[in-house]
Amino acid sequence: MAIPASELPVAARAPGKCILFGEHAVVHGRPELLLAIDLYTQVAARAAERLSLNGDAEEVGRHPYLTRALAELWDPSRPPLAFTSVSRVPPSAGLGSSAAFSSATAAALIAATGGSERSHLAQAAFDIERGAQGVGSPGDTSASVAGGLVALNAGTGSLLWEVAHGDRRWQVRRVTDPGWVWLVAHTGVPRNTGETVRAVGRRLAEPDGPALLDRFEEVARAGIAAVLAEDRTEVGRRFQENQELLRTLGVSHPKLEALLEAVAPSVEGAKLTGAGAGGSIVALPRPGHEVEAQRRAARAGALAFIVRASPSGARVVEAPSMA
Ligand code: MEV
Repeated sequence: MAIPASELPVAARAPGKCILFGEHAVVHGRPELLLAIDLYTQVAARAAERLSLNGDAEEVGRHPYLTRALAELWDPSRPPLAFTSVSRVPPSAGLGSSAAFSSATAAALIAATGGSERSHLAQAAFDIERGAQGVGSPGDTSASVAGGLVALNAGTGSLLWEVAHGDRRWQVRRVTDPGWVWLVAHTGVPRNTGETVRAVGRRLAEPDGPALLDRFEEVARAGIAAVLAEDRTEVGRRFQENQELLRTLGVSHPKLEALLEAVAPSVEGAKLTGAGAGGSIVALPRPGHEVEAQRRAARAGALAFIVRASPSGARVVEAPSMA
C-alpha cells in the first residue's frame, strides 16, 4: 500500500524490529532476517510558528534523525512544524527505535508533501538513518517500513524493493511470518550502532574475517529455511550458532550472556539482537513457556516484551488532536 497524501496535521506510526539472523554480516553483503515487532513509534506534525519536538525547540538540534529527516524531506520555504513523538520501543536497545522514528517521520513528511510509493519511503527512511549514523545497512528501516518478516541479500521470497547507497544496492524481500510469539529483552546497557559496526569492520579485516562471514551466511541461510519450514527446534539451534559467531566478533557483553543464561530453560534458543555490545536479546520461547521466559528475563534485570510480527509497516494514522 502506498503512503497517501494528507493535509497537516499528520501522524504516522512505524514498528521497531529485532534481527533474527545475520546482523553485522549484512553490512558486508551477507543475508539477514528481520522481524518488525508490534511495538511502535508514532510521530505527529502540525504547522507551527517555530520548529519543535515534544514542545521543545532546542530538542530538534539535539536529534540527528529529525534534523536529517527535515533536510531530506521538508522544503524550508514550507511552514515550520511542531513534532510530537511517542514510543514503546526502548531507545538505544537494538530494537530499532531509530529506524521506527526515521520511518514514521519520513512517512508523515511524505504524506504531507503529496504521498508516494512505499519503496520511496524505504529509501527515504534509510537515507535518514544512514545519514545520522554514518554507517549501516537498510535492514532496520526496511523492516520498519514493510512490517512482518523481511530478508536482505537472501534471494528468498518476493522482492519488495531495492535500496541504494552510492553504488551499493540491497534487495529487500518478504518472508512469510510463521505466526510465532518471540521474547525480546533489553539488558539496560545502551549501545552505539555506529561505533560497534566500525569495530566489527576492523575485526573482519583480520585474516579469518572472510571465513567468519561465510559461516554467518551459512547460519543465516539455514535459519531462514528453518523459519520457512516452521521448524522451531532448528531455529533455536541456529540462534545458538549465530550467537557463537557474534561472540567471536566481540559484540557480546557479560549482561547479554547473563540474560541468555537466565532465559535458557524456557526457550528453544536465544541470541543477542542488533549491534550488540549491550542492547537486547531475542529468544523463541518453548510453547506454553512465553510468560515464564518473560519473568526469567525480568528477574535477571531486563526490560522484557513478548512480541509478534507487526502485521503492518509504517503507515499514516489519524493525527491526535493538538490544541
Ligand atoms: C543494527 O540493528 C544491525 C547492524 O547489522 C547494523 C546494520 O545493519 O545497519 C549491526
